[in-house]
Amino acid sequence: MSESDPQGPSLKGQVLLGVAGLMLIASLAALPFLAGQPPETGLPGLLKFIGRFHPVVLHLPIGMMVWVLLLEAGNPCSKKPARSSSRMAMLFTATTAVIASLLGFILYYSTPDYDKELAGRHLNGGILFACGTVAAFVVKFRVDASGGRGAALYRLLLLGCAGIMGITSHDGASLTHGKGYLSNHAPEPLRKMLGLPAKKVREPAAGADSDGKQVVYTDVIVPILERKCYSCHNAEKQKGKYRMDEYELLLAGGKEGDGIVPGKSAESNALVRIELPEDDDEHMPPEGKKDLEDHEVMLIKWWIDGGASKDARLSDQPMTDAVRSALAIP
Ligand code: HEC
Repeated sequence: MSESDPQGPSLKGQVLLGVAGLMLIASLAALPFLAGQPPETGLPGLLKFIGRFHPVVLHLPIGMMVWVLLLEAGNPCSKKPARSSSRMAMLFTATTAVIASLLGFILYYSTPDYDKELAGRHLNGGILFACGTVAAFVVKFRVDASGGRGAALYRLLLLGCAGIMGITSHDGASLTHGKGYLSNHAPEPLRKMLGLPAKKVREPAAGADSDGKQVVYTDVIVPILERKCYSCHNAEKQKGKYRMDEYELLLAGGKEGDGIVPGKSAESNALVRIELPEDDDEHMPPEGKKDLEDHEVMLIKWWIDGGASKDARLSDQPMTDAVRSALAIP
């Protein structure tokens, strides 16, 4: 089992492990095909609960994978397999990767409002990663048993797994935090290198020009919604099937409709949800997210009751003293 035991596992053991590994890889790879399209309504409650552990477990194989790479990198030229301790680490990587991908699979099927393309790619990447780590472990077992034969194949598999891991983790982060999560705050030169557009600098809502040239929707309302609502209601994630980052969709609403009804704040679902008591299940933003400030609620209400126009300027809409002071206009 270790260097002092060059025979390593018996041939029978190797064959059994090889067959078991292949079967596991085949079943993992078949999962998405067998399961078909995710149901509109998601999965039963208990499965939903279990799926939520995906973000907890997924860090285990990532950390272990890095550990395996470090162990191998400590021994880059030798044909001899790295110390057999990397085999245990690889076993742990593969086991946790399989568990994480199964949980991810459940999460995917219980969350109908994921961006299908991104979530699909993340799911496939996760499954591919799990298959790769299982294969790597089987090969490592053989390498240890044969005193070093196949070490190059093992390392190739490790590199492949690490590459898939990088892409898949990034897709996962984009799913939960939005597409620009990593690049949004990147320094300007790096953004240029990556071919990203220069950062938009938006005037803050407070401190609006006193000449009233600013557009209420883009310069006052959008920054508020961007801070408090977009993270769950955007192009990639549409909780409640509601997307708020485009004017028409913001007005249209989600499953329940009537997101914003011009002139009628009391009938505008978005505002109604904001004004529900904080302990109400339907209160927006949901528990744990930073609530709107009183003056932000007031500004949104003022905009809706003033007609919720897309291009009206501050000077077009009669301002109360409260609005003036919220916008820091003298
Ligand atoms: C942390 C995520 C999150 C944030 C942030 C968030 N929401 Fe939601 N929103 C949800 C979820 C989940 C649902 C679906 C469940 C429900 O209907 O309560 C939802 C549903 C809604 C709906 C009902 C859509 C429909 O037609 O069914 C409205 C309206 C809404 N949100 C408005 C807002 C507003 C306004 C903000 C910002 C102040 C906001 N949300 C911020 C998660 C969020």
